[in-house]
Amino acid sequence: MLTLSTDQLSTQEIQQYLQYAIAPRPICFASTIDLEGNVNLSPFSFFNLFSMNPPVCIFSPSRRVRDNTTKHTLENIKMVPECVINIVNYEMVQQISLASCDYPKGTNEFIKAGFTPLDSELVKPPRVAEAPIQLECIVQEVITLGENAGAGNLILALIKKIHIREEVLDVHKNIDQVKLDLVARLGGDWYARITEENLFKVEKPNTKLGIGFDQLPVGIIASELLSNNEKGQLANYNILPESNVQQISNFSGPTILKIKLALANQETALAWEIIRTSI
Ligand SMILES: Cc1cc2nc3c(=O)[nH]c(=O)nc-3n(C[C@H](O)[C@H](O)[C@H](O)COP(=O)(O)O)c2cc1C
Repeated sequence: MLTLSTDQLSTQEIQQYLQYAIAPRPICFASTIDLEGNVNLSPFSFFNLFSMNPPVCIFSPSRRVRDNTTKHTLENIKMVPECVINIVNYEMVQQISLASCDYPKGTNEFIKAGFTPLDSELVKPPRVAEAPIQLECIVQEVITLGENAGAGNLILALIKKIHIREEVLDVHKNIDQVKLDLVARLGGDWYARITEENLFKVEKPNTKLGIGFDQLPVGIIASELLSNNEKGQLANYNILPESNVQQISNFSGPTILKIKLALANQETALAWEIIRTSI
């Protein structure tokens, strides 16, 4: 195991390790405006949703590691505390990368990167028409994390309006996760695309308590044929097995295969039935 103390690493090394490790990160494509009305558009992957009530997300234009300069997005927000956070899909990824170039102050990246500005309803910065979702935000606070190169500046953005393009909605007017076709940033030049093939569900019981690993039958915990994810599915079930079931120390190969099949089909109750009737 490689163990590193961050106070003995350079900022570049910290960046290298942590941007690979803390990934994938969603991308905020932020449009801002200065006092003269010059529009700026830049991507930020130090970004996430942090509160529902009030609805607040945070993103961080850092001081450049290279030369400790600050980003135009931060400077604009300090003058005009408003922004639009545009959500990035796969169709937009090459253009958002282009918009991240260090163009001189005053450059409109809508024009440079080929995006269409759409008037916002509440705030001054325009929305990106191509973005599947556009969030009009009022900046509540900017928290400066330091003055050295690489220091982050947390922009706390209160989401006031949510615009969603019809084509990513399902029949109930909810967002269809597959249709959204999101992209995320990882380490170095890596990105991830969220497609139907790599999406999966993990059932989250909100009201019921999972029994826990400590209540699984001995033979389930010991089984090398079941993965930890499969054991986790069984431990997430809410009905405690009888003590004679908990004590089963050995399951036959065919029984384990039946359990695996049921779990693969998300049929946890059936998997438990197979365990119970295997006595
Ligand atoms: C996908 C992507 C994500 C990025 N995330 C960040 C980030 O979280 N923080 C940051 O300071 N820069 C980030 N950058 C770099 C900025 O986009 C880049 O420095 C940009 O020029 C800043 O523009 P501005 O000076 O006009 O605000 C990212 C670039 C890309 C392509």
